[in-house]
Amino acid sequence: MKHVAVLTSGGDAPGMNAAIRSVVRCGVAKGWKMFGVRNGFRGLITGNIVEMNTRDVGGIIQKGGTILGSARCEEFKTEEGRYQAIRELRQKGIDALIVIGGNGSQTGSYYLNNQGFPVVGIASTIDNDLCGSEMTIGVDTALNIALEAIDRLKVTASSHQRAFLLEVMGRDCGYLALMVGIAGGAEYILIPEIETDPEQVAKTLRLAYEHGKTHALIVVAEGAKYNAEALIAFFEKHEDRLGFKIRATILGHVQRGGTPGAFDRNLASRLGHGAIEAIDREEYGVLVGLNQSKITTTPLEEIVGKIKSVSMEMVELAHILD
Ligand code: F6P
Repeated sequence: MKHVAVLTSGGDAPGMNAAIRSVVRCGVAKGWKMFGVRNGFRGLITGNIVEMNTRDVGGIIQKGGTILGSARCEEFKTEEGRYQAIRELRQKGIDALIVIGGNGSQTGSYYLNNQGFPVVGIASTIDNDLCGSEMTIGVDTALNIALEAIDRLKVTASSHQRAFLLEVMGRDCGYLALMVGIAGGAEYILIPEIETDPEQVAKTLRLAYEHGKTHALIVVAEGAKYNAEALIAFFEKHEDRLGFKIRATILGHVQRGGTPGAFDRNLASRLGHGAIEAIDREEYGVLVGLNQSKITTTPLEEIVGKIKSVSMEMVELAHILD
């Protein structure tokens, strides 16, 4: 009988609870004892670990956020912090750990596994910037939240013949901006992967205005060189040329707090099951992800320190469609 703990780490993502539920229930179905760690890696260091059974994860599949809590933990980035975590895990009799999270969290998983404690990661971040999984838990819901914002902005933009600038999350990766920009019919999309000249954006807006468009939409990732603040500062100096009056909306954490949609609940359920199966096979130091519609495992050493970039085909498509 195995004793397995699960934690959520980094930025929360809609569907994390569905993953916790799946991990606990699939583990219990194997006859294992399951544990939850509160507040991410910080809870490991302080030994905040509680036993969880199937009833403890009842009624959470539809909830956003994470019932276990999450944190960004500086102490865990040190070797000593991780040894302290391992001491706590061993003292509680835990055999393996499942980490639900994104890039920073899976780097933590990698180092913990290398220091001798068996870890399996589950791909979860609204940024979808994690190598080893084509889709991560939370991104689909975040996209739909941002899309709803775009649809609403277009209504008011058209009423006033305005241009709207929407900033979405994505520190290092433009996936959210690109995909919601395409889905929302944006005139221009700015992402961290591609440097854009604001002069080009101004020309696009002018052209849209001259073509008689009643509104124009620019979607920008927070990590783009010209984010919403920088673009607004530029446009303020050149307002006469644009035609449209311009307004900016920064969506921020609104995108992270949503109720998970069907895709994220199902993905999380499948990845949770995949993580339990990996532990059953004693396949450690891997990330469980979704690739070509299948649940796969990828060695953590192949993904740490990398950032998944957006598809250049989608960038091309965005240009054709704008
Ligand atoms: O990694 C997910 C994410 O939402 C990023 O898109 C964003 O840059 C960051 O987290 C914000 O982090 P925090 O919630 O700690 O401010």
